[in-house]
Amino acid sequence: MAASPLAETVVGFERLRAAGKIHRWGVSNLDVADLEELGPALADCATDQVLYNLEHRGPEFDLLPFCRARSMPVMAYSPVGQGGALLRHPALRAVAARHGATPAQVAIAWTLRAPGVVSIPKAADPEHVRQNAAVRDLALTAADLAELDAAFPPPRRKRGLAML
Ligand SMILES: NC(=O)c1ccc[n+]([C@@H]2O[C@H](COP(=O)([O-])OP(=O)(O)OC[C@H]3O[C@@H](n4cnc5c(N)ncnc54)[C@H](OP(=O)(O)O)[C@@H]3O)[C@@H](O)[C@H]2O)c1
Repeated sequence: MAASPLAETVVGFERLRAAGKIHRWGVSNLDVADLEELGPALADCATDQVLYNLEHRGPEFDLLPFCRARSMPVMAYSPVGQGGALLRHPALRAVAARHGATPAQVAIAWTLRAPGVVSIPKAADPEHVRQNAAVRDLALTAADLAELDAAFPPPRRKRGLAML
């Protein structure tokens, strides 16, 4: 039986690793079933980079628990919703105002609220870079999280992985 395209890709990664050209490899936009397709190679996967922000909470349903159970971090891309409508949402703005923070900082802190998630905002503006780095000192409270849950409800059922 022919190997799946995913399995063939992993064989390529492992060749690069054996040649010393890469240290680790990861994947992107793979849902739980796709990760399972990796078979034993999944143990060597450094991370799965997926769309994860307040507007796209689908990965919480099963992907995050699946990866956490395997000690594999998930990498949240577009954590500030590409600087769009998310940053103008009243609930996010209210939480940000309470902390003397910006909505973008709260959006990033939210992705980092639980272990096992790496957040990768893209920022070309140096002030944004500074603000984003400062998020390490921003701790959201249970009340903040409840307010954000009310505005951006967590998933109640499995949905296909959203992606950009
Ligand atoms: N694997 C995939 O399929 C995939 C898909 C999409 C994106 N990605 C990766 O994910 C990373 C980020 O994603 P993204 O660029 O789509 O979305 P994003 O990080 O959510 O948004 C980037 C936008 O937000 C602005 N921004 C950043 N920090 C801010 C702040 N503190 N305050 C206000 N605005 C702020 C940026 O402005 P400035 O640039 O002006 O600072 C930029 O316009 C990138 O590395 C990208 O390569 C991966």
